[in-house]
Amino acid sequence: PVQLLADGYGRVATDLRVSLTDKCNLRCTYCMPAEGLDWMPTSQQLTDDEVVRLVQVAVQRLGVREVRFTGGEPLVRRGLVDIVARTKAIETPHGPVETSLTTNGLGLARTAGALAHAGLDRVNVSLDTVRPETFLQLTRRDRFADVVAGLAAASDAGLGPVKVNAVLMRGVNDDQAVELLGWCLERGYELRFIEQMPLDAQHGWSRDGMVTADEILAALEAAYVLTPATAPRGSAPAESFLVGGGPATVGVIASVTRPFCGDCDRVRLTADGQILTCLFARHESDLRGAMRAGASDDELAERWLVAMRGKLAGHGIDDPSFLQSDRPMSAIGG
Ligand code: GTP
Ligand code: 5AD
Ligand code: SF4
Repeated sequence: PVQLLADGYGRVATDLRVSLTDKCNLRCTYCMPAEGLDWMPTSQQLTDDEVVRLVQVAVQRLGVREVRFTGGEPLVRRGLVDIVARTKAIETPHGPVETSLTTNGLGLARTAGALAHAGLDRVNVSLDTVRPETFLQLTRRDRFADVVAGLAAASDAGLGPVKVNAVLMRGVNDDQAVELLGWCLERGYELRFIEQMPLDAQHGWSRDGMVTADEILAALEAAYVLTPATAPRGSAPAESFLVGGGPATVGVIASVTRPFCGDCDRVRLTADGQILTCLFARHESDLRGAMRAGASDDELAERWLVAMRGKLAGHGIDDPSFLQSDRPMSAIGG
């Protein structure tokens, strides 16, 4: 019997985001410091078997229909391909679960084929600039060419439509929106610009520092005719626009200035087995501890249902009492 992951505001979570590691091989300045972070001890990280078990509970008992793997950088997790294959093999009344990956693209050129073969449906790749020198400045690593190769390999492997996620930083790449869009249009990637959110490990986010969706759209409209896309948005974080009448589109994910929390259908599982009902949740529910103490699938499902009832109405970034979570983006998975 399936019991849906309903919260107290009429929303139901059908989209599970699973963080497979908090580690990353880039050091994006808006995400983490140059020296990296205190990574999660391996003993606290879910094993591959534990990840698959929790995904199976979500998919078979709790009505989850889509699973997205994230990080840190999920490609640094050795078991990724196997986890994808085992997720895809889970039996459900409505066929295999849809699977996707959000990655920085490093190493994707090597693994795209294996991921597609394992049943992965789509990838979203983070890329904030198409200038190698800006890439180095922003990520502190000289790996632009690897991302370009990863994108091409993903596209060739059929992991599409391939989406590109870009965060604009004032004084760093905020003058490059048009250039990024041109580059993505040429290659058939669907670009989305993301408003920076207060999730950086350094707690350096400020509303004034953030480049807003309105600013981004204004910059793009200097070079392209944008019209709102007609396809229904549903629970998608991105607002979509046709570029030059279509069919190509560009998106903005305006989490801060135009929050979409009211339509949220997401729930998150961290690499150390905690349920987060929101990117900004400050309360976590421990599935790892329960699982390692011998909880049955029924008991795990029940814990998950209880956790969902505590989901807040929205992120509350604008509330005077807003407090950034101690858990940084890289340990949540975006
Ligand atoms: P698609 O299904 O391909 O549209 O994926 P997605 O956009 O939901 O996922 P992705 O991992 O590519 O995330 C893109 C950006 O949207 C990241 O910055 C995420 O942090 C952000 N994002 C994803 N889900 C949520 C959410 O529930 N709330 C907020 N505020 N931001 C989100
Ligand atoms: N705000 C918005 N997006 C962010 N990302 C990382 N940190 C932030 C932040 N503070 C983006 C990454 C990646 C996606 C998962 O989230 O660039 O594309
Ligand atoms: Fe790594 Fe993503 Fe953070 Fe960049 S934003 S350092 S790619 S986890």
